[in-house]
Amino acid sequence: MASEKSQKKVFIRTFGCQMNEYDSDKMADVLEAAQGYTKTDKADEADLILLNTCSVREKASEKMFSDLGRLREFKDAKPGVLIGVGGCVASQEGEALVKRAPYVDIVFGPQTLHRLPAMIQRRNATSLPQVDISFPENEKFDDMPPARVEGPTAFVSIMEGCSKYCSFCVVPYTRGEEISRSFADVMNEIRDLAARGVKEVTLLGQNVNAYIGKLIDEESGEEIDADFALLLTAVNAIPNIERIRYTTSHPLEFTQRLIDCYAKLPKLVSQLHLPVQSGSDTVLAAMKRGYTVMEYKSIIRRLREKRPGISISSDFIVGFPGETEEDFNRSMKLIEDIRFDGAFSFVYSRRPGTPAASLMDETPQEIKLKRLQHMQRVLEAQSTSVSEAMVGTVQRVLVEGVSRKDASELMARTDNNRVVNFPADKQLIGQFVDVVITKAMHFTLRGEVRTHEATLRVA
Ligand code: SAM
Ligand code: F3S
Repeated sequence: MASEKSQKKVFIRTFGCQMNEYDSDKMADVLEAAQGYTKTDKADEADLILLNTCSVREKASEKMFSDLGRLREFKDAKPGVLIGVGGCVASQEGEALVKRAPYVDIVFGPQTLHRLPAMIQRRNATSLPQVDISFPENEKFDDMPPARVEGPTAFVSIMEGCSKYCSFCVVPYTRGEEISRSFADVMNEIRDLAARGVKEVTLLGQNVNAYIGKLIDEESGEEIDADFALLLTAVNAIPNIERIRYTTSHPLEFTQRLIDCYAKLPKLVSQLHLPVQSGSDTVLAAMKRGYTVMEYKSIIRRLREKRPGISISSDFIVGFPGETEEDFNRSMKLIEDIRFDGAFSFVYSRRPGTPAASLMDETPQEIKLKRLQHMQRVLEAQSTSVSEAMVGTVQRVLVEGVSRKDASELMARTDNNRVVNFPADKQLIGQFVDVVITKAMHFTLRGEVRTHEATLRVA
């Protein structure tokens, strides 16, 4: 491989979710390890342009096709450049994408991104476009170079895919069914990250609480199943890892064992993103979510018993086919009852190939948009009131780096995932610091340093 090393540059444009952000980092890692590519944020100096696409909603896939159109002119002007399309649109379109856009050289899915170097090689050797959107089991996890460490936080993928088949969603078709990564591999990666200075890990997966790994029981020597609660317990025991986050979880497998973790595991943050989608049982059933509003509320009630003050955020879909004004009001009632700390809300987007695509959808788009605006106003007010209630409190924050807006300030994150900016010495980057919150802005907080690890060590 060494002879193939070059100073080539790759530009990656990412659409969509955190999983895609993670995958884009992995694309850069495999290309650097195998072929010496370095990342650039300027498309016009790149030898390879990758679009990591999203097809969860129509808007994201339309945006990617318009970007792809522009790349055609780019390639005409710079013929040597290679163009690759990955992610969920690639997975859905496959060969059709090359037919529609013959200037695309490589089409790969979320599960075949580790094969990128080999696909580039074959493309160069044959001058033919390469398409591989298969779902090779676990190969992706096994073939990844070790994670790069950039700062005190890191993402760790623990499972891939989704087997829930919600009636509106493309993910099970584009990312394949749930596959868990080996327990030992996850633990080794986190121990290694901790040894390299990482203090906070976010366990990633489409449904992390569907995780099921294998573990050798120390007493009996037998292989046992390890569920997500057991994995969290093991991660909590890793020295130097001080904070554990995860995303996304699903209400269906939110077991009492997982709820109990919030009493037992102090490193687990007091914040949870638990998508509910709707506050109407009729709509939830049509969405095939597999739980009722009562069951969702019961999870939250039991969580709050174990961890008073835990911040709950969620996802909502407005205007699902057949959603009546009454159904929508039930979602609003749920929002009032739970008091979420932030939520993503979307107008339903019809996705070809999903079961909901064939449902009658009679609600006019303008009514759906009105519902969405109303919901977003209420959700925003709830989130603002959480931020305002934090003013005057002391928060333990992890300093991630320099503030985006003002280079003389630092940026840190609270336990409930809010960004706090404050003036302080850059030496504090990577440390936990106690800050008093002085002001709640629209999306962020301002603070002042109280104490930090360095002062505590001296004291
Ligand atoms: N695993 C997550 C869960 O437990 O529901 C969802 C992952 S999905 C990629 C992210 C969010 O996109 C969903 O929670 C849903 O609110 C939204 N979404 C998915 N399909 C959608 C569609 N067809 N129209 C509108 N929003 C959609
Ligand atoms: Fe999509 Fe439902 Fe899975 S929203 S990612 S099919 S849990």
